[in-house]
Amino acid sequence: MNSLFKTLADNPSALLRWYVDVGVDEAITEEPVDRFKVGGRVEAVVATKQAKQKILKTVSQSHSLHSGLQPEVGELVHSAIHLAKGANTIDELKAAVESFEGCGLKKFASSTVFADGNASARIMFIGEAPGADEDRQGKPFVGASGKLLDKMLESIGLDRETNAYITNIVFWRPPGNRSPTHQEVSSCLPFVQRHIELLDPAVLVFVGGLSAKTLLAKPIGITKMRGHWHEYVSPSISKPVPSMALFHPAYLLRSPQQKRLAWQDLIAIRHKLNNLVQV
Ligand code: URA
Repeated sequence: MNSLFKTLADNPSALLRWYVDVGVDEAITEEPVDRFKVGGRVEAVVATKQAKQKILKTVSQSHSLHSGLQPEVGELVHSAIHLAKGANTIDELKAAVESFEGCGLKKFASSTVFADGNASARIMFIGEAPGADEDRQGKPFVGASGKLLDKMLESIGLDRETNAYITNIVFWRPPGNRSPTHQEVSSCLPFVQRHIELLDPAVLVFVGGLSAKTLLAKPIGITKMRGHWHEYVSPSISKPVPSMALFHPAYLLRSPQQKRLAWQDLIAIRHKLNNLVQV
């Protein structure tokens, strides 16, 4: 045993921390396990399939709302739109998301990560996808990048308890923290759009490129997107919402030299809020 492993083996909590640092956040065995065949999972999968069939049956035969999606996914998106539109409060929307079986990510996740923060906030932050910590706790941005996000908010007088609201573009953790697929994002999108309508923020902040690209429908990267004000528009909201894209805190943890640009964006966000509302 080399000295690093000996030191870690003598200190189990350091060993666990080291596993997490190097990305080992799933316990696996030597032999592959088909979890679809293990005990209660079979019933869960059958129930999910039945729920999916039910959704597909009740959904109208209208064509796919999103180009490039398979017809079945178009129908799931349609059912998401139907469920999302039926929600008239944030709590109802949360319940609708929790009942939705049309996003494949849900099968692998331990919890639905809906949102955190003050629902009366005038500023809404939309990140990418829950990670392992978020999946465990059922709240967005509670891991290492969440801690940095909290510091970024604090630097401009915001916090979750009083004046900021945080969610993601998908509500379930993608296995192994991969990026969510176009189909997974599309199936959650109607809920995210309704979330924005119901919260009615004065300012939107996209945390990372994925939510910016998706909600602004602009196929450009975060480096070009950040540093400028954009407008989020939707037929269901009365006027465009000023929107800024921020570097994702996970990226800032890897590339701290970019914090300078993120700080400029945070200052711009603070000024915009000062002009629009008393926060
Ligand atoms: N990264 C995100 O984009 N969202 C989270 O909730 C956690 C990490």
